[in-house]
Amino acid sequence: MEKIVKIVDGVYYVGVNDRDTHLFENIWPLPKGVSYNSYLLVDERTALVDTVKLCKLSPYLEKIGQVLNGRQLDYLVVNHMEPDHSGALAAIVQAYPGVKIVGNKKTVDFIRAMYQVEANFYEVEDGDELDLGQRKLKFYLTPMVHWPETMMTYETTAGIIFSGDAFGGFGSLDGGVFDDEVDVTYYEHEIRRYYSNIVGKFGPMVQKALQKLSALEIRVVCPTHGPVWRTNPGRIISSYDRWSRYVYDEGVVIAYGTMYGSTEKMADFIARVLADEGIRNVRVMNTSAVHESFIINEIWRFKGVIFGSCTYNNWIYPPLENVIINLAHKGLPNRVFGVFGSYGWSGGGVKGILEYLKKNNWQLVGEPVEVQFSAKAADFERLRKLALEMARAVKS
Ligand code: FEO
Repeated sequence: MEKIVKIVDGVYYVGVNDRDTHLFENIWPLPKGVSYNSYLLVDERTALVDTVKLCKLSPYLEKIGQVLNGRQLDYLVVNHMEPDHSGALAAIVQAYPGVKIVGNKKTVDFIRAMYQVEANFYEVEDGDELDLGQRKLKFYLTPMVHWPETMMTYETTAGIIFSGDAFGGFGSLDGGVFDDEVDVTYYEHEIRRYYSNIVGKFGPMVQKALQKLSALEIRVVCPTHGPVWRTNPGRIISSYDRWSRYVYDEGVVIAYGTMYGSTEKMADFIARVLADEGIRNVRVMNTSAVHESFIINEIWRFKGVIFGSCTYNNWIYPPLENVIINLAHKGLPNRVFGVFGSYGWSGGGVKGILEYLKKNNWQLVGEPVEVQFSAKAADFERLRKLALEMARAVKS
């Protein structure tokens, strides 16, 4: 029997870890796994907040049964309908037939469309409350963080926000559940990778949600992924605030595509010049070897980006093009960028990058450098100038 983790008296963590799924949303690698967090409140009435992905149903039901200890489940609060949280919804309705499903109008529409479940719905609007006995839940609609039906649930006595995807991140919970039980730095990169790739597109909506929450006294942040923040909830809230305002640090990401090393050699040369100029955060990333989500994660953090491409079919090298397309979907503004690349008999890589990035409204730094097959002395001089201008741009 698993040891159940208590958030506060009467509020329990009943989430599960998933170390089997390789790709979140079938796109994003999960080298450290992921947790699907769910919470159970036991009061005069009982309420489950969000469920888990269906693949983890059995251990999940076991935990719920253990906490309820024979009691009925009165409410299932659905903050978010993406199947990593709603996957077990139908099974919960089946296991606890009297349960009322709490959600907003869109939630109910989505439940019907996704699962064809007809249950006892308890529809709420922004600011509505639900009395559990000693505790009250208050609902805040936070659309597009991450889907249109998304809402957050605030427990008013202990000051717990059940925040859905917001404030969450990749990484399974390996024993420790709370921020004070784990090395937070272990999770930091995975939390930002989750934010930048999953929620990042909706920065303005995250800002709206943060404004809505700003009047609340938040003592515990219970997201649907990653650690529960009870000792330093301000840390994760301020990180989300920074990322959703597109705040950057000093640093440069050099993302390149190379077939036989010529473009990589240029990338390394630029990196060395940047280091000479005192730029401590330089990330040289091979787009063929590193999944785009890790590259986008670094670009979310730093002000400068330099793309380097060999020419492939008269165009950008495909793995690099994929990064650029995905970045454009995220709508990340206010970065400065440089471009370099190589070609054999006709160009296309550099030209392609410039065409894409026109749409991003980023500021071009220095002159693009394109060389035939491999960089010669004069080309390295042009690369040096590009690196110097980038160093100046990210320091300013
Ligand atoms: Fe964790 Fe949008 O689902």
